[in-house]
Parts: sequence; C-alpha cells; structure tokens
Amino acid sequence: MRLLLHTAPGLGGILQKQLQSSAGNIRFLSRRFVSDKNDLLVVDAESLQEVLTSRVVEDAFFLFLYRDNISPNMQGLRDLGRVLASAIKTDRWQEAIRYRFDQLPASRRKHRVVTFRPVVRLQGSHVFTRSQLRATAEEILVSTLPRNWRLVKDNSLVEVWITVIDNEVWGGVRLTPDYSKRYAYKQYHVEASLRPSIAAAMVWLSCPRNDDVFLDPFCGAGTILIERALAGRYRLIIGSDKSREAIEVASSNIGPRYKPIELHQWDATSIPLEHDSVDAIVTNPPFGYRYGSKESNKELYPAFLQEAGRILKPDGRLVVVTTEDKLMRHLIGQDWRELVTVKVWVLGMRATIFAMERR
Ligand SMILES: C[S@@+](CC[C@H](N)C(=O)[O-])C[C@H]1O[C@@H](n2cnc3c(N)ncnc32)[C@H](O)[C@@H]1O
Repeated sequence: MRLLLHTAPGLGGILQKQLQSSAGNIRFLSRRFVSDKNDLLVVDAESLQEVLTSRVVEDAFFLFLYRDNISPNMQGLRDLGRVLASAIKTDRWQEAIRYRFDQLPASRRKHRVVTFRPVVRLQGSHVFTRSQLRATAEEILVSTLPRNWRLVKDNSLVEVWITVIDNEVWGGVRLTPDYSKRYAYKQYHVEASLRPSIAAAMVWLSCPRNDDVFLDPFCGAGTILIERALAGRYRLIIGSDKSREAIEVASSNIGPRYKPIELHQWDATSIPLEHDSVDAIVTNPPFGYRYGSKESNKELYPAFLQEAGRILKPDGRLVVVTTEDKLMRHLIGQDWRELVTVKVWVLGMRATIFAMERR
C-alpha cells in the first residue's frame, strides 16, 4: 500500500532513515516539507502497522491521488477539481476507504450515513486561496460520493486530506486516529512540553539498547521518558527535574506503566549519580523563554554538560534539543564529539537536535 506520512517539521530525514533501517519492507519514495506544519513522506509498505511502529510518524494516510502538473492559476484549481473527481472513481479510492473502515472498531463499521470532511493545505505561490481550494474539494466530494455520504465540519468518519505544494497535489484518506489518541499518555502538561514525535526521534538517535540506564534530567511532563519506554527494553529509566510540579505531572502521565522507572527532584547541574553510570541522556533543557532566561542559560548549559560528561559512560550518548545553537556549539568544543545535528521546529521556533558522544 502507498502511504503518505506526516511527522513534525524537520524530522522527515530521520523518519526516512528510521523506516529504511527497520526490519519491515518499507520503500521510501519521496519527501517534502510543509512549513510550520509537517514533513511529508511517501512510502510503499506492506501494512500500516509496520509504519506505525515508528512513533516519529504522527499521521498516516492512504494515498489515492498524486499529480505534479497543477498550475498556480484558476485553471489549476479547476484541474484539481477534475483530478479529485476522477481519483474518487478509482479502485485506489475504494481500497483507501476499505482500509479506513478496517481501522474502526467493529461497532462503528456499519452505518447508513458516512460522514466525511476534506482537510486542505496549500503551500507555494498560487492565485487561488486555501478557502477556494477547500470549497472546490467540498463541491467535488459532495457531488461525486454516494448519497449516503454526508459532509460535516468535525469528527467525521472519513477525512480526505488534500495537500498542494507548488505544482504538486497529494490526496490521502487518514488512517490514524487523531493526535491525542496516538499519543494518549499525554494527559497532563507542563509549559513548553515536547511534541512526542520529536521525543521519539531523539530517543532513536540515542541508539536504545536492552540494558540501557536512561536519563532525562529536565524531564518536565515525562514525554522523553515515556517515548524511551515505548522504544524497547531497558534496564532503568530515570527522570528528574528541579520542579516538584513537573515531577508530579510526569508521574501522572507515567501512571503505573513503564517499570522500572524512577522520578527525582534533582538539579541537572548536580545529579547524585555515580561517574560513568548512565548509557544515554536525552533531554530538552530550557530554551530561556518559558523557563529561565538566555542569561541564566549561559550558566545552566555548561554546568549541565559538565555533569552529563561525568555521569555518562565513555560510549554513552547525549541527545539535546535546544534553540541555544550558538551556546551549544561553543560548549561542545573539546569535550564532546558531535555525531548528528537535525534542524527541527519546536513550538514554532527553529531548534536543533544535537546527538553527541564524549571525547
Ligand atoms: C522545556 S521543559 C521540558 C519539557 C519536557 N521535555 C516535556 O516534554 O514535558 C524544561 C524543564 O526543565 C526544568 N528545569 C529548569 N531548570 C532546571 C534545572 N537546573 N535542573 C533540572 N530541571 C530544570 C523545568 O522545570 C522544566 O520542567
């Protein structure tokens, strides 16, 4: 099946590598960037499940339409309408709908009325607007789909996503549940909590191993800890944060699951763990907006990196996401070897994931 995948903006490259190195039979076809929204990947896979084992994937769609000859003018919009109308008459659309219904619990599979809605995205220079694109998609769907299909604004059984980037269009039927169900553990929040797909990508960059002692010393709501727990076996997961409230929030999100896991109220600049005792540190320190300040980061970051260097085993990995690029590059200097850097968007800001080893 041909799938269109969404991940957080900037993570497309990591997701591609992760899928290509996974045990499944996934063939990568193409990748695009939808600014501020998503990276978009097209892959061929044998099943949806093999793709969804990657938690870097936020959403998956059955791809029923692709064209790369859409002109940016009003004629382009009319062509899009025609292309959509004919795509809905193909076997591929039927297959997409079948897959969508297969995802539903048995009780929801039989209904006389099928609700649907189009979700449209438009990027690039076009004469037509996003609302005109949506109106065209709605008109075509209403006039082409069977009589028992009803257009609704929200909570539809079928979501038809139309993404136009420059002269390309992708049409997909959404197969994944909404975001809150895919990352259901995230019930309680702290400010500036990390998007789970970014946490999952960072965990992957730490090269998880079955006997890992894993630490997030700025754990906030526990997103990175839980993504590590979901990534496979480990010896021990430790989460710590200076704030008592953050520890309570993390503890609520973790609940009785993911053992063994410890939570501590510690300062990341003075962690009461032995030298060379941790295999991986994956973390999201304050950027200096909601927690601390740019000024205080000048002390926090070097003190934390020194502490990380002390407790990490010689072959251990440190993975950090931050908007403090310059400061990090300055600090990496003599003591760390940079393995990978990845540009991502976190809360609308350009940030960098640094994966490092001790020198
Ligand atoms: C950006 S938030 C982390 C969010 C977390 N990744 C999540 O997904 O919820 C930064 C966290 O660092 C904590 N923090 C700030 N200074 C700290 C310090 N010196 N030691 C430990 N934690 C600290 C804050 O309390 C906050 O929870």
